[in-house]
Amino acid sequence: MGQPQTAELMEKIVSLCKRRGFIFQSSEIYGGLNGFWDYGPLGAELKRNIKDSWWRSMTLLRDDVVGLEASIIMHPKIWEASGHTSTFSDLMVDCLLTKKRFRADQVEPQSGMAYFYLGANDGNSGKESKDPFSVLLPPGKPPESARKIATQFYQMRGIENAALLGERAEAVKASIRYNPENGSLLTEPRPFNLMLKTYVGPVESEDNKSYLRPETAQAIFAQFKNVLDVSRQKVPFGICQIGKAFRNEINPRNFTFRSREFEQMELEFFIRPDEAVEAIYGSVAKPAGAGHPGEPQPNWGWQLWHQYWVEERLRFYEHIGLPRNSLVEYWQQAEELAHYARATVDLLYKFPFSKRDEKGELLGEELEGIAARSDFDLSQHQRFSGRSMTVFDEELKAAWPKLSDPKKIELAEGYFASRLKYLTKTGEPSEKAQKQAREDAEALAKGYYIPHVIEPSAGVDRLALALICNAYAEDEAPDEKGKLESRVVMRFHPRIAPMKVAIFPLLKNKPELVKKAKEVRDLLRAQMTVFYDEAGAIGRRYRRQDEAGTPFGITIDFDTLGEKGPELKDTVTLRERDTMKQERVPISELAARLAEKIR
Ligand code: GAP
Repeated sequence: MGQPQTAELMEKIVSLCKRRGFIFQSSEIYGGLNGFWDYGPLGAELKRNIKDSWWRSMTLLRDDVVGLEASIIMHPKIWEASGHTSTFSDLMVDCLLTKKRFRADQVEPQSGMAYFYLGANDGNSGKESKDPFSVLLPPGKPPESARKIATQFYQMRGIENAALLGERAEAVKASIRYNPENGSLLTEPRPFNLMLKTYVGPVESEDNKSYLRPETAQAIFAQFKNVLDVSRQKVPFGICQIGKAFRNEINPRNFTFRSREFEQMELEFFIRPDEAVEAIYGSVAKPAGAGHPGEPQPNWGWQLWHQYWVEERLRFYEHIGLPRNSLVEYWQQAEELAHYARATVDLLYKFPFSKRDEKGELLGEELEGIAARSDFDLSQHQRFSGRSMTVFDEELKAAWPKLSDPKKIELAEGYFASRLKYLTKTGEPSEKAQKQAREDAEALAKGYYIPHVIEPSAGVDRLALALICNAYAEDEAPDEKGKLESRVVMRFHPRIAPMKVAIFPLLKNKPELVKKAKEVRDLLRAQMTVFYDEAGAIGRRYRRQDEAGTPFGITIDFDTLGEKGPELKDTVTLRERDTMKQERVPISELAARLAEKIR
């Protein structure tokens, strides 16, 4: 059976999400709130599984990463230090007629005939507007349409019986200056800060203004020293966090993909600056080729650590069921990089709504970014808070005196140059920056430095949506009488599926079957999510679980009770969602069999 394409597919997915309780519109009974979503019973389990898998892979299965759970509202200085107050903005444009707001980079280029007006006046009232305005019409549309829109524009400015002044027409090509929905001129692009503001305490004044965090990462930097002091970790090590983030996105879109409230899973992995690695190990190991570089080694520099985390993250996505060919590894070009970033790789998932290349292949949309952010963030917090973010590295202190003099000079000068670059960018006067950078280089020789960082930063909601899109399939399955009927099946990997197993007594009016089924339910419940369902024909119950993405179904029938012979007593039918194959399994083996598949 052919899979539906793009828009139709997204419609089906959105409708299934509501119908089966994965995702609902927030505040739906009041008409919804744009950019906010709620997760229903299955969605809540799916998200929980995503976060548990990430947490497990990041901390529980590693010795070198510890967790943090910080507050959502933090000291406003944090956002000054991080740059969010001054630069976390999108360029936006407003429709001059409807006031609708667009992200400037998302306005589709349009061609046609533009009609320009110098203003309008009202012969009756004598009122006049000299505001210029223009309207873009697609080819073939009569000028009256432009005049109608322009008249509305001047009426909104109080010119009741607007007579348009100085009409002039000109052909334009691929212009992004007009609202694609009505042809009205847009405002010039203006930066719009995406942080959601609030006030802390009873007084709503500038002094009490605060922000809902736009990312979880900054709390990790702000708590870096506290965590280091208590966790018995040494650089290289990481701190990770899962939590809500808020951005007042101009155009929330593509279902949950771009929301105003979402969750992030972020790791800040702190490493030695390359100069320190070279001083200790004689050289810095560099990537030998593409692919996973293997177990971390002490002589890795930032490039190998970065490559390592890109590959680790790809493995994670594959582990929870996103095939490698559904993901794209996009290396940001030099001109796209933030000024402090040395490299950033975006991991994209080929969502059905992604743009396509000229061959029709989906290009993908960002699931996660993995950035090598140098020592920028900790340096910023050191500067803004006045608290030292340097660490003392015993091995570096011991290694430095053993270096040759030319090597000492080379490494100290390299470190001096990178600190000077950072300090100059922050606007420090040249003399002060030189002095500070020199002190930093001298401190390096004594074993002190500000760690650099590699940051894998992922979105829980985007991943949930990717997993839902990836799982959605339509095929055919036999009904009660063996006749093929179409079915929708969510092929979640068992590790991530909201419900792991469904338990069905064949008939609900046979107390022995129900009793046995409930025993099996209670047996498995301790180890996995179980859905118990006794209502309706067994085929219907299977179909419901196929749509919920439950990978296994267990039916308790008369054989289970030993009615067809003692050899089948206490065995059940185990049905596999994707193949629909059924096999007889002793109840005593169920827990181990299933646990192996969901781990
Ligand atoms: N600390 C780095 C940082 O926040 P980002 O690329 O802005 O980087 C990281 O965000 C991830 O957070 C994205 O890859 C995406 O998965 C998720 N994310 C960002 N904005 C989002 C939004 N408006 N809605 C849903 N997820 C979002």
